[in-house]
This record gives sequence, C-alpha cells and structure tokens, in this order.
Amino acid sequence: CGIVGYAGPSEASGRPLDVVLEGLGRLEYRGYDSAGVALVAPDQSTVATAKKSGKLVKLVDELQARPLPAATAAIGHTRWATHGAPNDTNAHPHLADDGRLAVIHNGIVENFAVLKEELLADGATFLSETDTEVAAQLLARAYRRTGNLTEAMAYVARQLEGTFTLLAVHADDPTTVVGARHDSPLVVGLGEGENFLGSDVAAFIASTKDALELGQDQIVTITPDTVEVTDFHGNPAEATRFTVDWDAAAAEKGGFSSFMDKEIHDQPHAVGDTLLGRTDADGRLVLDDLRIDEAVLRTVDKIIVVACGTAAYSGHVAKYAIEHWCRIPVEVELAHEFRYRDPIVDEKTLVVAVTQSGETMDTLMAVRHAREQGAKVISIVNTHGSTIPRESDAVLYTHAGPEIAVASTKAFLSQITAAYLLGLYLAQLRGNKFPDEIREILDDLREMPRKIQTVIERGEYVSAVARSMKDATSVLFLGRHVGFPVALEGALKLKELAYIHAEGFAAGELKHGPIALIDEGQPVFVVVPSPRGRDSLHSKVVSNIQEIRARGARTLVIAEDGDDAVLPYADEIFWIPQSPTLMSPLLAVVPLQIFAMALATAKGLDVDQPRNLAKSVTVE
Ligand code: G6P
Repeated sequence: CGIVGYAGPSEASGRPLDVVLEGLGRLEYRGYDSAGVALVAPDQSTVATAKKSGKLVKLVDELQARPLPAATAAIGHTRWATHGAPNDTNAHPHLADDGRLAVIHNGIVENFAVLKEELLADGATFLSETDTEVAAQLLARAYRRTGNLTEAMAYVARQLEGTFTLLAVHADDPTTVVGARHDSPLVVGLGEGENFLGSDVAAFIASTKDALELGQDQIVTITPDTVEVTDFHGNPAEATRFTVDWDAAAAEKGGFSSFMDKEIHDQPHAVGDTLLGRTDADGRLVLDDLRIDEAVLRTVDKIIVVACGTAAYSGHVAKYAIEHWCRIPVEVELAHEFRYRDPIVDEKTLVVAVTQSGETMDTLMAVRHAREQGAKVISIVNTHGSTIPRESDAVLYTHAGPEIAVASTKAFLSQITAAYLLGLYLAQLRGNKFPDEIREILDDLREMPRKIQTVIERGEYVSAVARSMKDATSVLFLGRHVGFPVALEGALKLKELAYIHAEGFAAGELKHGPIALIDEGQPVFVVVPSPRGRDSLHSKVVSNIQEIRARGARTLVIAEDGDDAVLPYADEIFWIPQSPTLMSPLLAVVPLQIFAMALATAKGLDVDQPRNLAKSVTVE
C-alpha cells in the first residue's frame, strides 16, 4: 500500500488535499485496489473523509462531485488488499472516536482477531472487515485515556503484532499527523512551514528533497514546523537525514504513453548512470558505498543471491558472470524460499539481496535471516531511504531513477549492471582477473547504453508483431546460458502485462518435456546466443529452433546482427547489436519488454498497473 501524510500552515486551504492526492498519484504503483483521504481543519469537529474502491482516479472523481472542506493536515492511502475485499467499506481511512479520528495502515496486523474480540467484548462495533479498523479503535481508546495522539500511537504500536505503518489524524489536533512504523516503510519529507510523510520519497519529491529516514520501531509526529521522533516507549530517537537525488520530472510520464514506455526508453541512462563514478584515477574499480572489510570479502566461499520476481532473474543472469569471473559458487534463491529451507549459511557466505524498492518483505526477511546466521549482506537497491540497505552490511545503489510502472524494466537492467560491478570488484580484490581484463569488461559494459538505445529504436517492428498477436493465448520462451533467465523474464513480462499464459524454458530442457506443448501455430520466442561465443551453444540453439519449427511452432527469434544461420528457421527476427555473451541479456530482454507492452496495449490493458499486482509488496 502507499501512504501519504501532510501537515501545513494553520490557515486551512486546499494544499493538504492537493499534496496528498499528488503523492498518492506517485505511490499508486504500491497498490490500486482502493484509495482514500482524511482531512482535518481547526473549524471542523470531525475528520472529513472520502474513499473509493478502484484506482485513484475514482477517488478524484468522487472529490470533484462532493468536494471536501479546506484543511490544515491530511493523510491518504492507496491500497493493495490483504484483509477484506477491495470495496469502498474496506478502503482506508478507517474512522473511530465518533468520526474524530482517522487511521490508515500498510501491512498486516497478525493478532487482529484477538484484539478485535477484546474490543467487541468491550462494546466496540466494527464497520469493516479490516485489521486496520482494529488499530483505529484501539488508538481511539488510548487517545481517550492519554489525551495525546503521539502517546496513544506508541501504546497501540506496542500492542500490535505483524507489520505496520500507521498514520493518524485527530480533529482535536488539526495541524498534526502521527505515524508509527514496524517492518514497513515510512520516510519524512522536510519542507518550509510544512512537513510530509510517505511510504517512499516519491510521495513528496515534487515539494522537497530534504528527507529523514526513520529507524525500525519509531513513532514520528509532524506539525508544520516540527518533526519529533521517538521509540515505541516515548524515548527520543534518532532518524537519519538524507537528500533525495531523484528529480521530480523523473516521476512524470514526460510525453510517453505510459510509465512503462518511458522507463523502457530510460534504460540506456539507467545502465549508464549505474556505471558512473565507479573507477579511480588508475581505472581500478571502487565501490565506495561498500562497507565490508576487504579481508572478509577475500574469504567468501559462496554467494547466495536472494530476491523476488524480476530482481531474482537479474540474479540468475549475474550468477553466470560472477562464477565465471570470480570462481565463487553462486546460488540464486527466491527470498521467500530461502529462509524456510534451513539454508547453509555461515560467516564465509556473502548474501546479495537484489531489490528495486528496498522494501520487499520477503527479501527483507531473507536479509535478516542471513545476518543472524553470520553471513555478510550486500544489497543492490534502487530506492534511497528504504529499509533493506539500512539492514545490510553494505549497499550498492543502482541509479535507475524512480520506476513507477509495476512491471520492472529499467531496474532489471540496472540490477544486472550493478551485480556485474560487484562481480568484477570481487574478481579484482581476489586476484581472479588481471586489471587489464577488468578494464576490458568495463569497457564492454560502457558500450551497452548505446547498444540498448539501438534495440529500443528498432522497437516499432516488435510492437507491430505483438499487435498482430493480440489473440494469442499461450507464448513460450526459450533460452540457454544467460539467455535462459532472459527467457524467464520475457515470460514474466507477458504474464504480468497481458495476462497470457507464458512460460520460459532452458532450451536444452525442451526435449525432456516441454516440447510436448508444441503444436501448429504455437508462438515460441527463442533467445539465440552469439555465434561468436566460445563454444557450440549457438548451433545447439539453432537446432532447437529447427526442432520446434518442424512441429509447427511459430518461431520469434532474437538474434545478433549478422547471424544468418537463423534466417531459414525464423518466422520473425528481432535483431540486436553484437556484444560479448555476458553482456547480451542487457539487449535481448528489451524486445521482450516491448513485445509484452505492445501486446497488452493492443488488448486495451493498463500496462502501468496490471491487475492484482503491486510494485512493492511489503507483506510476506
Ligand atoms: C513485486 C513486483 C515485481 C518485482 C518484485 C520484487 O512483485 O510486482 O515487479 O520484481 O516485487 O520487487 P523489488 O522491489 O524487491 O525489486
């Protein structure tokens, strides 16, 4: 879910609502099952609220039809449903104290059933099925006892189990917003005569770049001129100040038809920026935000990449490069599987957590588990001020800028780039590669933004093919070596965006089962390795294309410029510039992204906000 809070000047105005709606617009990628706002003002005895199921635009229509009064403070929420169906009643905010108190929540209150029973026994009545309303009622009772919203919030935070960010406003105190966070994100934006709260910095980048990163288990109270941070027992606590390096325009569509389209076009920059400033005057790699003793990194005998979704596929790609360059075994594990299988992890294990948001709960839990076992954790993260970098031993930031479309594109390319930098750094440190070799690979990497740009410029042909396939019901993807995770990612993009059954396979596995799926007209993408590669992979994959074509498949081939060997067997060819094998995923995935986007668009679907998904999943 996405959360925004705002405390502004004592004169009531339209600004609190504008700020909150704008922030929700930028956070909508965190969930879009429903949206709601709550406003307080000095002359109002109750909180004014509006909430609607569905996307934010429905709330905006509602507010136009039935405007809310001017305000001094406001909170807003965009929901990804956990407890309770995504309808109007279950939308946030939830009210208590006869409409004088409003609460919004991100996360899951795990002991809500017990707490609800206690409240029911005490005479409380509930309007919704949500765990959030339980928190609201508890807060109302605590407030009646203490007469202080901050103290009441600390009390409630101590009662709740699970994960939560809570924000509350009370009609008694119309210039104050109080927040609490436990295992769920919340950052503070510092303005002049106004202050902000948000699930991430995108909530307020249009107004301020001056921000505070809250620690775990903290309560924050903002008024127009003050920000106070305490722990759950009311003791003053520290928060870290930082400057947001994203620019507000980066979170705008800027003339593109969708955020996804824009983010695909941003990819050359995302890769280029991730590479910037990583070498010293002698051309040696330096990762200056890496704070682990070099001696420890020299003793690492195993790397485990933990991540989810697209980020996990970037790990799969990186495995090939890191093992090849560093001769350290690399495992890639879905973060939610890692912790529960009693993994073999010790002080010599380096865990690499890859995450765009820095907030994915499954990944965060894997990080904690790894550190408890004595492993060192390096995170590869795109979002500053998020939780996972703070809980890691070191962080390597990708510089993709804000990624708004739910289906990841530029973050994926920048994650591969950052993981490659980490691999090269380890190879340099451990002496697996000569400085010259590293310099050469870095030069290859630096060539990639230009080549990615070329693939994007060839996108219209891919889109045309995609449009002609809008009635497809199943598409398969084959790849081998680094092309295998590319195939998996291509299938994921199509599932996410176009709701089509899509599956990626290792091309060599085809004959062991999946080939049974091939019949007349079955579309199959094949990611063909470079014919200039060292071994015979290329010819093996070309044989695979022939095998499926002989069984009626419609072959959609991604091949390197000049690879004439594929010509006789390809129904469609999407050419990519020549590059060393390990660099090729940065190119080969781009036509697959464009294909999924164009096909979904042809079906009339919203490519930025696919059904049922959220960009940042902060529950397990
Ligand atoms: C969600 C998103 C995916 C994303 C995954 C991991 O499921 O819908 O697009 O790949 O989370 O997100 P992260 O922020 O950890 O990279």
